[in-house]
Amino acid sequence: MECSSSSSSSSSSSASDEEDLMREIIINLLLASGVYSRYENVNIKTDWWETALFYQIYPRSFVDSDGDGIGDINGIISRMDYLKDLGVNAAWLSPIFKSPMYDFGYDISDYYTIQPEYGTLEDFEQLIKKANTLNIKIVLDFVPNHTSNESDWFIKSSNKDEYYSDWYVWENGHIDADGRRQPPNNWVSVFRKSAWTYSKTRDQFYLHQFSPAEPDLNYRNPVVAEEMKNIVKYWLEKGVAGMRLGSVNYLFETDKDTFGGRFPDEPKTGKPGAVSDDYDYLFHIYTKDQEETFDIVAQFRDVFDAMSVRNNFTRIMMTVARSPIKTTVRYYGDNYHSGAHIPVNTVLIDEMTSKELDARDLKHAIDLWISYMPLGKPANWVTGDHDTSRLATRFRPELVDAFNMLVLLLPGIAFTYMGEEIGMINGFVPWVETKDPQACNTNDPVNFIDVSRDPVRTPFQWNNGKNAGFSSAAKTWLPVAEGFESLNLEYQRNAVRSHYQVYRILSNLRIRPAFRLGRFESLAINQDVFAFKRWYNDDTYVIVMNLGKSYQIVNLTVFDLIFGQLEVEASSVQSSRSYSDNVLATYLDLSADEALVLRMQV
Ligand code: NOJ
Repeated sequence: MECSSSSSSSSSSSASDEEDLMREIIINLLLASGVYSRYENVNIKTDWWETALFYQIYPRSFVDSDGDGIGDINGIISRMDYLKDLGVNAAWLSPIFKSPMYDFGYDISDYYTIQPEYGTLEDFEQLIKKANTLNIKIVLDFVPNHTSNESDWFIKSSNKDEYYSDWYVWENGHIDADGRRQPPNNWVSVFRKSAWTYSKTRDQFYLHQFSPAEPDLNYRNPVVAEEMKNIVKYWLEKGVAGMRLGSVNYLFETDKDTFGGRFPDEPKTGKPGAVSDDYDYLFHIYTKDQEETFDIVAQFRDVFDAMSVRNNFTRIMMTVARSPIKTTVRYYGDNYHSGAHIPVNTVLIDEMTSKELDARDLKHAIDLWISYMPLGKPANWVTGDHDTSRLATRFRPELVDAFNMLVLLLPGIAFTYMGEEIGMINGFVPWVETKDPQACNTNDPVNFIDVSRDPVRTPFQWNNGKNAGFSSAAKTWLPVAEGFESLNLEYQRNAVRSHYQVYRILSNLRIRPAFRLGRFESLAINQDVFAFKRWYNDDTYVIVMNLGKSYQIVNLTVFDLIFGQLEVEASSVQSSRSYSDNVLATYLDLSADEALVLRMQV
């Protein structure tokens, strides 16, 4: 599986192993000696988050420090130096709060307590301390839309406790002609089947836009909104640098009072093959992106801003809303509402669904975000997360470096999902070991694989030892992915060329003004070759990638002011080119999957 063993078909400057080794030594010397620091003298007035490299940790699968087969906070602390070495500026952690783990932390039963199998509040404080010493920020994933059905709030609400009664969305439903109890309307949950579940205790249905274990909070109750803001304040006061508000587009449902007190049915999409249990059976016009959402997002933002002013250090708010582009970018804010610092951009996931990726599709996806987002705000780029098939599997392993070049060198903020830096692939998790509720909900031991998110959550592959160095347990919570013996960090650290080595070079390039501040232009040079230019004053770079499976010759002078010779700053593992090799702008031969970062000679 190790991509560094791939052969190259390129004709020019075939480097020997010794040359590669020299190149590696030179790069490490440059990195260590601070040669790049000359670029740091440019007076760049950006706030810490505007050009940050964020690394997503799925705590359950990162490092297990106590041998129970489940990752934990002390495990993260033990690998903070690794994040530093990668050049990461901030880590964001999938939820670590108390949870019955039906949806692995996204079903929270107590937002003020750390999940015991992950550690204690003291452990978390140690994590913040360690992160501070390394100048790495910690951002927490916060789930504002729903709690766990085992939270005290929900239990009290089910019992019609006076204070909590109205904290969730409760409805009566009706009895059909056959005397069967039916939900209030046709709404479907993202995880399939009715979005309503009957509670015997309360003799009413509650709404859950995700699993029945995740009842939706009622944001029309101002007390709920205030409590959720208190939670944000609490963690910001503990020293976290920001929070990620997931699924914000689900916070509100339509106002039923405008429909005579009854939530209306959603219209059918008519999508071929979709049945009434499927989420895409309906257009979600009453359950997503309601106008009130933008107001509550602005209220949350005020909490972050107040804390930022208090400590003179910007605490950031990220929002995740996978909606049509015009709606997603509204989460940046407008003249009436302040929005998120970072509305997470998933176009590189949502717009590029075909395995037969083409340079024009890529240009189109990137342009889409840049065209619709407000001018003057930073862009951000994401190619993977804990819900999305890994990039190496979605496309092919040979494109890992090209995509890391994109994410790390496009303008703005970069996100890396743990393992993308070494090109991890999806693991195989058989039906009998499947844990993801979205997969379990299919009740289908064959097709569950199409929706299961377990394969992207398998343990991080540290080395070729027991459980890939993730845990000393006899059994890990999810099996380690096959092929870890050669696809692991240690192997890639020792390899002359590897995804990890490329990633480190890229994260170091990122700090140059051309990438932090510079201008941007992109071209699909042909169907297979995508290229973009970044420049700041006279420091100019072209990043060029052959996404096709055949050899290509391109002329980079199609870009304005690109001519003469360019020098290689980084090359994908497929490339036969090494650091400081020269190429001609007018005639560049690219082997299949080859990706290069080139710098104009001045
Ligand atoms: C969004 C999270 O990313 C996902 O993992 C989770 O299952 C849903 N919210 C429901 O909580």
